[in-house]
This record gives sequence, C-alpha cells and structure tokens, in this order.
Amino acid sequence: MEKKIAVIRGDCSSPEFVKETIRVLDKIAQKHGHTFVYEEVAMGGDAIDRYGDPLPEAELQKCLNSDSVLLGSVGGPKWDTLPGDKRPEKGLLRLRAGMGLYSNARPARIWPQLAPASPLRPDIAANGIDFIIIRELTGGVYFGEHSTIHNGTEEVATDIMEYSVHEIERIGRIGFETARKRRKKLTSVDKANVLDTSRLWRKVMHELAEEYPDVEYEDMLVDNCAMQIVKNPAQFDVIVTENMFGDILSDEASMITGSIGMIPSSSLGDTTVGVYEPIHGSAPDIAGQNIVNPMACILSAAMMLRYSFDMSEEADEIERAVGAVLDQGFRTADNQSEGCTVLGTKEITDRILEEI
Ligand code: IPM
Ligand code: MG
Repeated sequence: MEKKIAVIRGDCSSPEFVKETIRVLDKIAQKHGHTFVYEEVAMGGDAIDRYGDPLPEAELQKCLNSDSVLLGSVGGPKWDTLPGDKRPEKGLLRLRAGMGLYSNARPARIWPQLAPASPLRPDIAANGIDFIIIRELTGGVYFGEHSTIHNGTEEVATDIMEYSVHEIERIGRIGFETARKRRKKLTSVDKANVLDTSRLWRKVMHELAEEYPDVEYEDMLVDNCAMQIVKNPAQFDVIVTENMFGDILSDEASMITGSIGMIPSSSLGDTTVGVYEPIHGSAPDIAGQNIVNPMACILSAAMMLRYSFDMSEEADEIERAVGAVLDQGFRTADNQSEGCTVLGTKEITDRILEEI
C-alpha cells in the first residue's frame, strides 16, 4: 500500500521523537512492502516563526489532502507571551476543528514492566489499569467565544461553554461502540449538578443508553471521577466526556500508568483521515538532549496504522517491539526504575528497530 502521511514535527523536543518515529514507520514499510510518503507540515511555534501564524491555511490543506497526520507536540516558553489567537496551541485547535476531528481516544493502560514507575500504591496498580478515555474534541469551552473586556472598573474575562445535541450524540455513540468492543462498560463523566451543558449531555446519553442494552452504563461527576481514577482505576473500561474534562482526566490517567511518555492518542471524525499524537507536551526543559521518550509517538504511529490504514498486523508488531524493549529492561529517563538501563531517544529506538 502507498500512504501519504502529513508530518508535523512540532516544537522543542518534539522533532527528536518524531524523527525516531519515522524510522520505525520506514522499517515497517520496508518489511511489509508499503510505501509511506511524508509531507512536512508546519504548525505551532515552528509555523509562527516561519509565517507568523500557528496554522496557515495552506498547511491545513496539506493535512486534509493526506491519508493521515502524524503530529509531535507544539508549544514552548518562546511563544508563551503571544496573545491567545497567535499561540502555538491555537494551531492545534484549528487543526482539530478544520479536519472535523471530534473524537479523541486516549488509552490508559499500564505496561506491567512499568508498574514500579506508577505513583499509585502497588496493590492498587496490581489490580490492573486498562481503560480508554473518549474525549469530545471540537466543542465545549475550547471552541466557545473567548473575550476579555474592561467594564470601567476592572478586566472581566469570559469563556463560553456550549454543546448541542448532535455534538453529544455522535461522541456518545463512539463511547458506546468502543465499550461494545471491549469489556462493555461505559462511564459518562459530567458536572450535571452545576452545568446546563452537562444536564443536556446526561439526557442525550440516557437516550442513547436505551439503544445499547448490552453495555453497562453509569453517570459519574467529574470531581468524583478524578478521585476514582486514583482510588480504583480497575473499575473503568471506557470513559466518555466533554472536551475540557477529557483534557484534565487524561493527564491524570496517563500518570498513574507510570509515565505520560507512554500514552498515544488518535483523533478522528467521520472519515479514516485522523491525527495521531502523543498526549504529552513538547517538553521544552529537555529539548536537544536526546533524552525524551519516543514511545508515545511511536505507539501513536501504531494507532495510525491500525485505525487509518487498516494495518493491524503492522500495528501489533510495533506494540510488541516496544513491549520487548521494556522487557529487556531498557527505559528512557522519565520512567526508569531500579535495575533498568536508561537509554537516549535514538538509542532506545535502535532497540525497537531491532525487534521489528
Ligand atoms: C492536549 C493538550 C492540548 C489541549 C493543548 C496543548 C491545547 O493539553 O492535547 O491534551 O488542551 O487539548
Ligand atoms: Mg492536555
């Protein structure tokens, strides 16, 4: 198969792990007789430096014309003082909206090899962590109107949070369908005791639940969910939630698995063209040192093969190779534990390549 992959190298330490991920994709292509053609796309701080815009229209078009997008992470202190509309993160939000990617899947699975790096008590981690957060990605407060005005006395800022029935229904359905393919349990997370958007969310979810009698369904308030994730993560199979709650809960969920440096993600809409990215940031503090963990990005590439290119055997192979390298006791600095050998970004990828 020939596939065109748009590559966004990202900022700070991101180009380091994207480069290693491409080596892994090339190895897979070579072994399985595929051709991956890469198209470079500038987004985030990189695009601001080149074009004064975090995602110029022409760059978005390149993504829309590709078979999928591999994305590193954007942002860094250099661009932190720019106004909201010019920040690197705005490029990411425009990419999500411009490609219609309303469904973001973030798996939280503990690699048994990394259990010692989990901050949870060993008896809690031992019960297993294997759930997935389905985060709504193109609505809510991220995309409502933002404004800051001066009311004569002081500054007043407003961010509008809005959800419509169709936005809730399409992500809710993905939640139920995902649960159906797993352990058949869905937790819908909201703040229905306070927010109107959450009350509408809950109403739509209850209507959907009637269509999925085979899925065990529950509502959970977001504050309680934040607590349950550390108290008893084994209770979760699939969590579905709105944009900002999903942002916050997915960082929490990733950390309990040992390292945020291990969690990939997929963002999809109504087609197979998606964006695949690690959920961690661009790690400015360790940029240029060849120590950033490339695994979340490499595992994101595996998700791309599986969900956008229907190459599940190839995806399995990457995941197996990552597992084998962990089995051999190799780690990056972020998830080391006693008795392990710490390798650099490039060197740990060399090991993964040897396993493919
Ligand atoms: C994420 C990130 C982004 C988000 C930022 C960089 C805008 O935290 O993908 O989780 O909040 O969605
Ligand atoms: Mg986040």
